[in-house]
Amino acid sequence: MTYNFDTIIPRKNTDSLKYDCAKKRGKPEGLLPMWVADMDIQTPPEVREALAARAAHGIFGYSEPDENYFEALENWFATRHNWQVDPYTSVQTPGVVFALCTLIRCLTRSGDAVLIQEPVYYCFQESIRANGRRIVVNELLFDGSRYAIDFADFERKIVENGVKLFILCSPHNPVGRVWKREELEKLSDICIRHNVFVIADEIHEDFVYPDNTHTVFASLSHEVAEHCAVCTAPSKTFNLAGLHVANIFIANAEIRRVFKKELDAQGFSQANIMGLDACRAAYRYGGEWVDQLVEYLSGNISLMRETFRTRMPQLKLIEPEGTYLPWVDFSKLSLSVPELERFVVDRAKLWLDGGHIFGAGGAGFQRFNIAVPRATLRQALDQLEAAVRQIS
Ligand SMILES: Cc1ncc(COP(=O)(O)O)c(C=O)c1O
Repeated sequence: MTYNFDTIIPRKNTDSLKYDCAKKRGKPEGLLPMWVADMDIQTPPEVREALAARAAHGIFGYSEPDENYFEALENWFATRHNWQVDPYTSVQTPGVVFALCTLIRCLTRSGDAVLIQEPVYYCFQESIRANGRRIVVNELLFDGSRYAIDFADFERKIVENGVKLFILCSPHNPVGRVWKREELEKLSDICIRHNVFVIADEIHEDFVYPDNTHTVFASLSHEVAEHCAVCTAPSKTFNLAGLHVANIFIANAEIRRVFKKELDAQGFSQANIMGLDACRAAYRYGGEWVDQLVEYLSGNISLMRETFRTRMPQLKLIEPEGTYLPWVDFSKLSLSVPELERFVVDRAKLWLDGGHIFGAGGAGFQRFNIAVPRATLRQALDQLEAAVRQIS
């Protein structure tokens, strides 16, 4: 079966954060939204059927994941990511950010240092701050086209700040790196040497472009698995963010116990029944759909690359190895952060994520969400080109 990702599904007036909340978020009406990370693409038919069956039943009582759920998880990670994991070491939460916050509280005390690699997904900073912990930054190295890890700085920051917790973004949002096994091994060696626990946020793991392979952090070795929590969710892959389900794998039994205790303390026990239905159906039946989607998104990235090359050479696409959130360098336009924001909104009529919100190294960049039908992306690029022409 060949899926059609070109169909435009109208999202205006559907209670969508991306489309319907401009005013609340301080943006003018009428912008083309290419910001927050959900897709303008419908979830696979099998997921819609599972949800329709539940809706038809009309009873939405408390639920628990069943054997088929765990079997679907196990198969997904074994077949798609070459990771043989005991699915019963997973804990279900209402989201990955919810799990990050819970883990931060379990594993550190007030005022402790938590290490992150900026520019990075802004909820990392928010989660650390909101829980009264201190952010320590190991800034990624940028050579003008690709990002790399400064390992010496990584280790120095751990030692100098007595870091006991590191949040890894893998694949990395927003710089689009799919970390190589060797890079992950170096990170894990340093972390084990200094007894640093790793939260591996792998929510973008299914969006990996040709010639790249996602390596699950816990798959590096048994020892590494004992030192990390792997945060996964079907929400990015299958466009299910509003159904609030994530699967957090914690091999270390003691840390898993403490994590569950903290969930209890927050009053959370059962996951959303629709989220569980959707996750089970997605991981059971969604493989071929994801393969075709990734190919389609790769086509969108090619369109963006070619459009910048031929029509807007002032802008530079940082070639994404993974994620549907390409990171674009606007620095040749020589605009300050507020000027760039005004340029995007007032001239290009786009709603993007400004690079500065991702922390150190983010100013002068914008993050695009290209998980949209190609016609929508074309429209965004046309608007951007017209804006660039106005100021060049
Ligand atoms: C790296 C990363 N982690 C977590 C999330 C959000 O996860 P959730 O909605 O499950 O909290 C996102 C969403 O964009 C993300 O990019």
